[in-house]
Amino acid sequence: MVQVIDIIFVGKLIHTPSLGTLEIEDATVGVHQDETIRFAKSHHMLKNAEVHVLKPLQFFFPGFIDTHIHAPQYPNAGFGIDLPLLKWLEKYTFPIESSFRNLDRALEIYYRVVTRTLSYGTTFASYFSSLHTPASALLAELCFSLGQRAYIGKCNMNTLSPAHYCEKSCKSSVEATNVLVSFMSQLDPNRKFVSPIITPRFAPSCTKDLLKACGELAANHDLPIQTHISENLGEIALVRELFPDRKSYTDVYDHHSLLTPKTVLAHAVYLEDEEIETIYKRQSGISHCPTSNAVLASGMANIRKLLDAGIKVSLGTDVSGGYTPNMLVAIRQAALTSRSLASVLRDSRIALELPELLYLATQGGAEVLGRGHEVGSFEEGKAWDALVVDVSSETNTPVDIYERDTWENILSKWVFNGDDRNVAQVWVNGKLIAGTECKIEDTSL
Ligand code: GUN
Ligand code: ZN
Repeated sequence: MVQVIDIIFVGKLIHTPSLGTLEIEDATVGVHQDETIRFAKSHHMLKNAEVHVLKPLQFFFPGFIDTHIHAPQYPNAGFGIDLPLLKWLEKYTFPIESSFRNLDRALEIYYRVVTRTLSYGTTFASYFSSLHTPASALLAELCFSLGQRAYIGKCNMNTLSPAHYCEKSCKSSVEATNVLVSFMSQLDPNRKFVSPIITPRFAPSCTKDLLKACGELAANHDLPIQTHISENLGEIALVRELFPDRKSYTDVYDHHSLLTPKTVLAHAVYLEDEEIETIYKRQSGISHCPTSNAVLASGMANIRKLLDAGIKVSLGTDVSGGYTPNMLVAIRQAALTSRSLASVLRDSRIALELPELLYLATQGGAEVLGRGHEVGSFEEGKAWDALVVDVSSETNTPVDIYERDTWENILSKWVFNGDDRNVAQVWVNGKLIAGTECKIEDTSL
């Protein structure tokens, strides 16, 4: 028997390779054994290939990239929408996260998180776990074995947190982080699928020496960094009180060498112009979390302003500030938030267009996570991280398509009315990791 070495995909291919660009084409894509997208429209050259042909109302779309999600908060998704950030952390968030010292519980919940996010089409997620190293290692193993690309960071937090959920010292926090980094380096030495990410929770939960140590950890291990910034007015006032010597929230992170080209800053609702300039200079990226910002009544981030300043922007679900890990909901909320802000500020340019929103959820995420050359769109040489989206009536979803609908309309209907039933298949690195098999033909026969 001849070994199957390639896959050919035939069907509608839709992606947003750059901000505001929407490409829709009938394509034939060859995915070579090395799992990259080798070429389009020349499949006759391929021998011994499996052929996958899509049905009329199915299309390929790049896997979603969720750049900000708290895995241990998933059991709280959908409730606790009555308090502002700092009180919400105390009442709902720290208690649920502290329960992840129990590994059986961690296994049960993290399995659900990874399978649920995959079912929504998230092929790459940047996770905050709890402060516990063993449970964080478990999350890494689950992502690795289930095939989801992931950054996983145990929270560094050694102050202003409840006694039962606070690291004892800067030293113990660094040691625990090093254990996770070593474990994950053995699990995936090339960091192709899973990588540690240094995760100072936010400035108020870290002493100055811990912030500095986190900057050093990232530099010494060449690792990305994730944290929160300027989410809520009460939080910003607290940062000002705790760090009176620093010019701004951004300056706190900059001073401790935490703003790098691989830093993901979640929220960024209230940044001043000088802070925007600093973030641009450092080439750090933003994770816009509009669902969470609405739920916690944090505010509305002006994403147009950040994009105009040349800053990299992506989307995060921020579960469980956000009530769902469904990236379609984050896209919807980003659209509505930008439209509300456009109306409040009387500037129609602030409203984000659908192709821009889809970019934030895919290639924008890849850029923010420092992997824009590898995933996020269907360009030659990239990995095949793709969804087969099905908007046919067979899915029984409220995405009702009519003959006169253009593909732009269909995309919009999917974004605003679709759900996980529209995600027929999930591919990561050329492998089918979720959904139904649909092999049509094998040319080697
Ligand atoms: N700031 C510090 N921790 C958190 C968190 O868990 N969620 C959100 N939304 N903001 C935070
Ligand atoms: Zn968050």
